[in-house]
Amino acid sequence: MRHRVARAAEIPPGGMVLVPLGRRGVGVYNVRGAFHALSNLCPHAGGPVCRGDVTGTTVAGGAPYAQEWVRDGEILRCPWHAWEIDITTGRTITDPTRTVATYPVTVEDGWVVVEVDER
Ligand code: FES
Repeated sequence: MRHRVARAAEIPPGGMVLVPLGRRGVGVYNVRGAFHALSNLCPHAGGPVCRGDVTGTTVAGGAPYAQEWVRDGEILRCPWHAWEIDITTGRTITDPTRTVATYPVTVEDGWVVVEVDER
């Protein structure tokens, strides 16, 4: 089922709205102009993942023990145990075999439309 969740202008780049769709709600994110919709259900222990901060992550840098900050604004950090989730795919950084459910998003006549079938 398709749902108009907000006017596109109401979710600016870096913004998010949590809407009451699906079993636990759906977070609709704007990452640099592209919209993504994720379930508010963390695959680790069921935490309200969309209540977490939007951030980046670290990867190994070029020198020994060096770390590099990457993907700022593309990573969601669960508020319960800090698992990191790639907003653009739903895949967790912490355990790539586990994912947050994602939903198709389109912009139609200035509205952000999310397709969620679960009740
Ligand atoms: S419930 Fe999300 S990290 Fe544990």
